[in-house]
Amino acid sequence: MKNAIETKNLTKVYNNNFTAVNSLNLTIPDKSIFGMLGPNGAGKTTTIKMLTCLIQPTSGNATVGGYDVLKNPNEVRNLLGMVPQQVSLYKDLTVMENSQLCADYYGVPRDERDSRINDLMELVDIKYAKDKRVGQLSGGQKQKASLVASMVHRPDILFLDEPTIGLDPTTKRTLWDLIRELNDNGHTIILCSHDMHEVDMLCDNVGIINTGNLVAYDTPQGLKDSLLESNRREMTEALSKISSENEVSTSTKEDIENLSLRKMSILLKKHDDAIIESMKKSSSIKSIEIARNGRLNLRIDSFDDMAVQNVLNDINSSGGIIKSVSTEEPSLEDVFIKSTSKVNEDDRA
Ligand SMILES: Nc1ncnc2c1ncn2[C@@H]1O[C@H](COP(=O)(O)OP(=O)(O)OP(=O)(O)O)[C@@H](O)[C@H]1O
Ligand SMILES: [Mg+2]
Repeated sequence: MKNAIETKNLTKVYNNNFTAVNSLNLTIPDKSIFGMLGPNGAGKTTTIKMLTCLIQPTSGNATVGGYDVLKNPNEVRNLLGMVPQQVSLYKDLTVMENSQLCADYYGVPRDERDSRINDLMELVDIKYAKDKRVGQLSGGQKQKASLVASMVHRPDILFLDEPTIGLDPTTKRTLWDLIRELNDNGHTIILCSHDMHEVDMLCDNVGIINTGNLVAYDTPQGLKDSLLESNRREMTEALSKISSENEVSTSTKEDIENLSLRKMSILLKKHDDAIIESMKKSSSIKSIEIARNGRLNLRIDSFDDMAVQNVLNDINSSGGIIKSVSTEEPSLEDVFIKSTSKVNEDDRA
């Protein structure tokens, strides 16, 4: 099996008139971690619901682990696990009882069942509340209980719909480690999230969904690289437009400049005017500002692959010692904002 998920023109129309997912074609390689991004109401949960056989597509089709969601829903259900956006455990049952129920449903061997549940509870740190009813848990505790219940049968394909929302930073990290570990053991993970750092760090591939359409799909780095590429194109276009116009507003000039510059910040061991003077002469540095905290905030050319190296070389050759350096790269958030900005308001009702 090459792909864990394949969708072909997958479409969901709610109430016969609202298209939440619009002819989606998506491929998720087996044993990978896939991040699904998109603004609120983009159709992520709807997509996941169709892939996990909770709702039926209006048209198009999808296979999960090679099984068709319409023709073989039971086979599909057997190989997947799902941590839903809204926790769907029985409120009157305890954390332990809910997990046991799930384990029994999936036919986890009885002699393994409770020890597996206990291990998972320990892992996400919820064992202390194992005999509490789910209805009495805090938001984060419910989320943890939901994780345990959905992973007890060790699903081949695990869907996580915003799993770290409401989790404290320590538990978040534990969950990230767990996701990586599951993936190392051959599980495919589909992760819906609004946490760009989480997606950037964990995912092999990222898909951005906007108003029911896939608007971007690549590795996290690939998405950032293409943002740079598209900025470069925009800048070239804007520059050629300027050369054909006489009057150019200051704001247009600033916009173009912002597209072509990126920030770099440096802290030197010793503040030295001679070094700063020599930096001012560097062709790679477009501007220098000395911040109150002593850092040198530079603007360098975004498209020059050698710019960072040149700045470091300049400082080095004038005898400066660099204590700390950072550069501001295009982030997944920048990609997200750019690829979801062109929205037709009529599509969002
Ligand atoms: N049961 C339903 N009946 C009618 N419309 C629905 C239903 N469920 C969702 N929708 C609509 O479908 C669209 C997509 O919703 P969905 O829950 O898939 O979004 P999402 O991408 O998961 O958003 P979020 O980031 O807020 O979780 C929304 O406009 C929503 O109002
Ligand atoms: Mg959702």
